[in-house]
Amino acid sequence: MNSRKTLTLSAAIALILFAGAFLVVAHDEVRDVFKIESTIWPNETRGPVLFTHKKHAEDYSISCNECHHVYENGKNIWQESDPVDRCQDCHFETTVEGERRLPPDLQKLNLKLAFHNLCQDCHRAEVRRDRASTAPVTCGGCHSRSQ
Ligand code: HEC
Ligand code: HEC
Ligand code: HEC
Ligand code: HEC
Repeated sequence: MNSRKTLTLSAAIALILFAGAFLVVAHDEVRDVFKIESTIWPNETRGPVLFTHKKHAEDYSISCNECHHVYENGKNIWQESDPVDRCQDCHFETTVEGERRLPPDLQKLNLKLAFHNLCQDCHRAEVRRDRASTAPVTCGGCHSRSQ
């Protein structure tokens, strides 16, 4: 093998290793299963929710930006490689009872509604679409699995 070829080959190998490292990093970012456990509520009345994050993204084929967003001029500009802030960083209104009676602006900032509107709305639509769906729509379906 002449030295030019060797050079090309090692460059190719380096490139593959480099790309591989990136794939691993990108993959690691999608955490598998974790508890959604927000810290802004003085005491949780229902407790944390065990969430199959990776399954939602991969097995249920839900794109990242259906759940993750950063709005600019009303448009979601968040992209998969961007950092993810916690929901509670932006939805920091803490009312957990009668939250639907809050003024519309505050409802948008309400953390309980942020979770429930995201998780429950999709599950309800899912169950309407396919009666055999196991997407939980009852309180215990999401909250009991926490302990
Ligand atoms: C069905 C909704 C949903 C989908 C789809 C989803 N995520 Fe998430 N993700 C969440 C929720 C909920 C959290 C927890 C947020 C919190 O606790 O405030 C989270 C947390 C994260 C975090 C922070 C985790 C940590 O280390 O604490 C990252 C990074 C992330 N998601 C990336 C992604 C990427 C990349 C995709 C697509 C491949 C994706 N998510 C798809 C709902 C989703
Ligand atoms: C960087 C700030 C930010 C983060 C982080 C964020 N949101 Fe939002 N979210 C917003 C803003 C701002 C709006 C309101 C957009 C508008 O005016 O319509 C919004 C709107 C929503 C809506 C639609 C309004 C409603 O209440 O029905 C839902 C649902 C929602 N967010 C859930 C979540 C969830 C769940 C998370 C965490 C996975 C999250 N958001 C993370 C800023 C954020
Ligand atoms: C865009 C749609 C969508 C969103 C948003 C969504 N889910 Fe799901 N979820 C599904 C589907 C689809 C299933 C699987 C139903 C089946 O297999 O029949 C599911 C199943 C589940 C299950 C039971 C099976 C499992 O994998 O654990 C739990 C618990 C769950 N989701 C919690 C959540 C929580 C908590 C959130 C919000 C942070 C959420 N989901 C947001 C679509 C969604
Ligand atoms: C599809 C999943 C899902 C369903 C169904 C659901 N929740 Fe939740 N709920 C969540 C998630 C996720 C959170 C955020 C948990 C956290 O951060 O600790 C939450 C938070 C809450 C909170 C605020 C935190 C606390 O523990 O005080 C209350 C109260 C609550 N839910 C009550 C209910 C009630 C009552 C029902 C039934 C009518 C219900 N939820 C159904 C997913 C769900």
